[in-house]
Amino acid sequence: MILSGDRILLRDWREEDRAVFAATNADPRVMEFFPTCLDRAQSDSLVDGIEAHFREHGFGLWAVELPGVAPFIGFAGLAVPRLKAHFTPCIEIGWRLAFEHWGRGYATEAAGLALAHGFYTLALPEVVSFTAIANRRSRALMERLKMCRDPEDDFEHPALPEGHPLRRHVLYRLDSRSYFKAG
Ligand SMILES: CC(C)(COP(=O)(O)OP(=O)(O)OC[C@H]1O[C@@H](n2cnc3c(N)ncnc32)[C@H](O)[C@@H]1OP(=O)(O)O)[C@@H](O)C(=O)NCCC(=O)NCCS
Repeated sequence: MILSGDRILLRDWREEDRAVFAATNADPRVMEFFPTCLDRAQSDSLVDGIEAHFREHGFGLWAVELPGVAPFIGFAGLAVPRLKAHFTPCIEIGWRLAFEHWGRGYATEAAGLALAHGFYTLALPEVVSFTAIANRRSRALMERLKMCRDPEDDFEHPALPEGHPLRRHVLYRLDSRSYFKAG
C-alpha cells in the first residue's frame, strides 16, 4: 500500500531500508528518549515486528520516502501497542526520522497521511500517541496534529523500571469527531 502527500510517500518496507534504519537507531540524537540505541540485530528485529504487524492488522508503521530526495528517511504510521495501560487497547500514531531530516515538516506531513488513513479508511474512533514527558519535538508534533493531552492520562511506562528518568509518559488523544471538526 502507498499513501502519498505533497512531498512524502508512506510505503511498504524494502530490504534496503534496513541499513539506513539501523544507522538511525544507532544515533543517540534520535534515540535520546528511548532507553538505549539499537544495534543492527535489534534494529532488524524491530523491522521484522513492524512487518508482522502489517500482516496481522493491514496497517502499521510505514516506511517514509521523499521521492527524488531520499528513498527512506524513517517510519510513520499507526500501530497497536503491546503495552498494557489505562488507555489500552488502542491505536497509536508513531514516528521516527533520521536526524538530518528533522525540522522540515516531513513528520507532520507523514503523520497527517497516517491520520487520514486512520479516520477516513479505517474509521477509527480515536488515535493516541504517547512519549516520555521531556520529548519536546514529539509532543510539539502531537500538538501540531491537534492532539490533546489531559495530565490525568499521564502514566508510568510499564517497560521501564521505577525511578528511570524516561518512565513518566504523556498521552495525547485525537477522536474522530475532533479530527473531522478541525477539517
Ligand atoms: C519526533 C520527530 C519525528 C519530530 O521531527 P521534527 O522535525 O521536529 O518534526 P517535523 O518533521 O514535523 O518538522 C517540524 C519542524 O519543521 C518546521 N517546518 C518547516 N517546514 C514545515 C512544514 N511544511 N510543515 C510543518 N513544519 C515545518 C517546523 O517549524 C518545525 O520546526 P522546529 O523544529 O524549529 O520547531 C523527530 O524528532 C524524531 O524522529 N525523533 C526521534 C524519534 C522519537 O522520539 N519518536 C517519538 C517517540 S514516542
